[in-house]
Amino acid sequence: MDLNDIKPDELVAHRGFKLINGTHDPDDVDQIYNLEIRDSDVFVVTYPKSGTIWMQQIMLLIETKGDLTAISKLSNYSNADLIPWIEVTGNRETFILAPSPRLRVTHLQFHFMPPALSQKKGKVIYVARNPKDVLVSYFYFHKLANMLETPKDFNDFFEKFMRGDVFGCSWFEHIKAWYSHKDDMNMLFITYEEMIQDLQSAVERISLFLGKELTDEQLTNVVKHSTFNNMRKIPQANYEQVPGNLFNHHQGRFMRKGGRIRTWHPSMAPATHQNASCPARRAKPAPTCLHLFRLGEMDNLVEDGHHVLH
Ligand code: PPS
Repeated sequence: MDLNDIKPDELVAHRGFKLINGTHDPDDVDQIYNLEIRDSDVFVVTYPKSGTIWMQQIMLLIETKGDLTAISKLSNYSNADLIPWIEVTGNRETFILAPSPRLRVTHLQFHFMPPALSQKKGKVIYVARNPKDVLVSYFYFHKLANMLETPKDFNDFFEKFMRGDVFGCSWFEHIKAWYSHKDDMNMLFITYEEMIQDLQSAVERISLFLGKELTDEQLTNVVKHSTFNNMRKIPQANYEQVPGNLFNHHQGRFMRKGGRIRTWHPSMAPATHQNASCPARRAKPAPTCLHLFRLGEMDNLVEDGHHVLH
């Protein structure tokens, strides 16, 4: 990626999705579909702000069997060097020749990804997060990230998010498409809330899914180095070393609140809530994704679209 090419504020509509001008090239993104997939490939798929960098850290720690220093020997700049976004311009080419295992993250919608994944080649870990918390996290991220338009205010961003007028398109459509293909793929579907509630179990599930056998002590170390508080102290994991032309670090931290479920609060959107006709005024606490998925409410969630936020 040529950092100088990044033009702020511009989203590019492309095949039912929104890309960021200067970060993504639509023609290049289209070529991802044609990539040959190896059985050892692993893609972490997320809607933005759903725990991507958390999963980068966990996967790297699982690879190194809990050894944090081994990761910094591979790269002391950023975990994103080691588990890059496949859709960022330039990363597709390096993927082709990279040695196995090729671990990648992506925010892309299902239809951009190689069809081999749906023939159970490679593995996919989909991490879902409660949309209310995603919304809040994404709002603050738009202030931090120079390649994204700074929102006028929370209400303005709320409307954009609901319309899917943000990078990553609609949360509802993203999760609906990926979730509906989960049985075609080697997919682990896990929620951010599950990881918050019991990180040890989540790490065990992830390492089992990846076919990695770790001792209890190694698993404990993976968990230890991927808690919110510990990750926040690790520059290569917490994105504080991302250059100032990409992130305006004076605006806040990439790892903002995390560690908690339901950072959203009705007072976040005062104008919306003061409008008596707006269903958001009657907002109840959001069911967590975990709750929705466990209760099998996923179909309802995607059927009538927006009831989780409203
Ligand atoms: S991005 O920009 O789409 O890649 O962002 P993403 O990494 O998906 O999500 C960022 C949010 O994940 C939180 N995070 C964590 N939460 C709990 N524990 C750990 N270890 C952790 N690591 C990252 C991060 O703080 C962002 O959430 P918010 O609510 O903004 O704090």
